[in-house]
Order: sequence, then structure tokens, then C-alpha cells
Amino acid sequence: MKRALLVLTIALLQTTSAAAQSLDFQTYKTQVEPIFLRMRPNNGPGGSCFMCHTKVVSRLRLQPVSGDKPAWTEEQSRLNFEAVTQLVVPGDPLKSKLLLHPLAPEAGGDPIHGGGKHWQSQADPEWQTLAAWVRTGSATTANSAAAATLDFEVFRTRIQPIFTTKREGLARCSICHSQTTNFRLQKLPPGRTAWNDEESRRNFDAVQRLVVSGDPLASRLLMMPLAAEAGGDPFHPGGKHWVSRDDPEWQALAAWVRGQAR
Ligand code: HEC
Ligand code: HEC
Repeated sequence: MKRALLVLTIALLQTTSAAAQSLDFQTYKTQVEPIFLRMRPNNGPGGSCFMCHTKVVSRLRLQPVSGDKPAWTEEQSRLNFEAVTQLVVPGDPLKSKLLLHPLAPEAGGDPIHGGGKHWQSQADPEWQTLAAWVRTGSATTANSAAAATLDFEVFRTRIQPIFTTKREGLARCSICHSQTTNFRLQKLPPGRTAWNDEESRRNFDAVQRLVVSGDPLASRLLMMPLAAEAGGDPFHPGGKHWVSRDDPEWQALAAWVRGQAR
């Protein structure tokens, strides 16, 4: 039993390379990457995928490009390929975040994408191109589910207090983030300074999509409030709460995301 669990854990850790191996790079290079470069003038928050995804903190980390006719070199495309395949479950477009995140919720997509909804239906030719590419891969192991490895008790006792801590010149995370939409914590009733178990469960669910299990540097929860000079996101409306990755709070978050905190 223990052994089976160990094998499963290793299988989950290896999914990235397994996914990359089973998907076709040439199809990716010639058909998928042009989608990331295509200009989308009429698209709500606007811009092309690459304009945000060479900068924002997420697993879709594309290599920098510039110029009137931006294009990636073969080597850059290989690096992009590594990042993009992490967001794909080979053989299964409807389990692939790459296809679900920019797809309208009414068409089966995720509820929210920071960059807006680029496809209104699965019949969209771009969506179809991506789906065809994903189907070139054979189902390997399941994609790693963040919920499977993140520790709830550590979250409840060590991570949540970070959200209610007052820092010099800044508001507490919990004040703003009980009202925002993308990252939403439960409201604390007046007079209470900590969340009960049920509220903590909900917070835990809300935080799942902002962390990438095992990868603090791809986790928005850690990178949004981190100073840009320390590798953080260029901008966070709530200010920069940590000037360096050595900050004990940042370290506690990183240990939790890596599954090291016990
Ligand atoms: C205006 C900026 C912007 C544009 C344009 C944009 N995105 Fe995003 N995208 C974001 C932000 C911010 C996030 C992180 C927050 C979230 O998950 O919604 C994100 C997250 C994602 C994720 C999830 C990454 C992860 O780590 O789980 C995927 C997949 C994605 N975008 C795909 C795309 C694709 C494909 C396009 C082009 C069709 C695109 N995005 C265009 C801003 C943008
Ligand atoms: C003064 C208000 C304010 C404070 C304080 C604040 N934030 Fe934010 N933060 C925002 C706003 C506004 C956004 C963008 C809208 C949203 O997330 O819904 C944002 C975005 C984020 C995002 C990205 C959500 C996404 O999916 O794009 C994360 C993660 C985040 N904040 C974490 C934190 C953490 C952790 C703290 C405390 C260390 C904090 N914030 C403190 C206002 C604040």
C-alpha cells in the first residue's frame, strides 16, 4: 500500500516531462505558437497571449519576444513547449488548463481568467487547433492536482495568519481580499481575528488556483505581493508586502507550497 502511494507520488512528479514527451513538438511550433502571437484587438482586457504571458506570474511562462513581427527562435520555442505542456493533459483537451482557462464558462471553460475570455465556444478554430494538438499526445499519468499535496493543517495554522497580519503602511491581505474576485477569502465577522474550520476550508479552496504545488516561483500567491526586484510580479494593486524572498513569511509560504512544512 505504502509502496503504491510512493509510486503514484513519483508518477505525479514526473508528469511534466511525460506530457512533453508524448506531445508533438512540430505541430506545437507551427500551429500552436502562432495562436499565442496573434493580435486580439477587440478582446476585453485585450492584447495577445504573449503580451501578458511573457510577464505575468503563472505556469504559462513564455520567452520574451519583441519587434513588429515577433517570433520565437527554435530554442525559445523548446522552452515555451516545456512550460505549455505543463498546462495540458495529453489526449484530453477538456482536462487541459490551456484550453479551459481562456474559454468562456458557458462553453465549459474555467470561471475566471485574468486575461479575459478569448474563445466563446469550443467550435472556435483556435480552440480546435489546440484540441487537435492535445490529442496528438497519449494519455500518460494524471496531471498533478495541487489539492492532493498541499497540507490543510499547515495552511490553517501557519499560512492563514499571514493573511491577517498587519504590515507597516499596508492593509492586511484579508481586508482587500474578502472583496476581490480573483483571490477571495472569507469575510471575518467584526471582533473575530481568525477563521473557523469551515471558513478555513473555503479559503484553502480559494488559494488552490493561486499556487502551483512544488513551484513557489510559479505561484501567484507568493509572487504578486513580492517586490519586483526580488523576482515578483511587476504590479500588485495591494502593494508589495515582501522585499525579499528571505522574508520569513515568504519562506513559510514557499515551504508549504513545496510540501516541506510539517
Ligand atoms: C491581459 C493579460 C492576459 C492575456 C492577454 C492573456 N492572459 Fe492568460 N493569464 C493572465 C493572468 C493574470 C493569469 C493568472 C491568473 C489566472 O489564473 O487567471 C493568466 C493565467 C492563464 C493560464 C493559467 C496558468 C496557470 O499557471 O495555471 C492559462 C492557461 C492562460 N492564462 C492562457 C492564456 C492564453 C492561451 C491566452 C491567449 C489566448 C492568454 N492567457 C491571454 C493574463 C493574461
Ligand atoms: C489594498 C488592497 C490589497 C491588499 C492589502 C492586498 N491585495 Fe492582493 N490584490 C488586490 C487587488 C485589487 C488585486 C487584483 C484583483 C483580484 O485579485 O481580484 C489583487 C491581486 C492579488 C493576487 C492575484 C489574484 C489573481 O488571480 O490574479 C494575489 C495572489 C494577491 N493579490 C495576494 C495578496 C496577498 C497574499 C496579500 C497580503 C500579503 C495581498 N494580496 C494584499 C488588492 C490587495
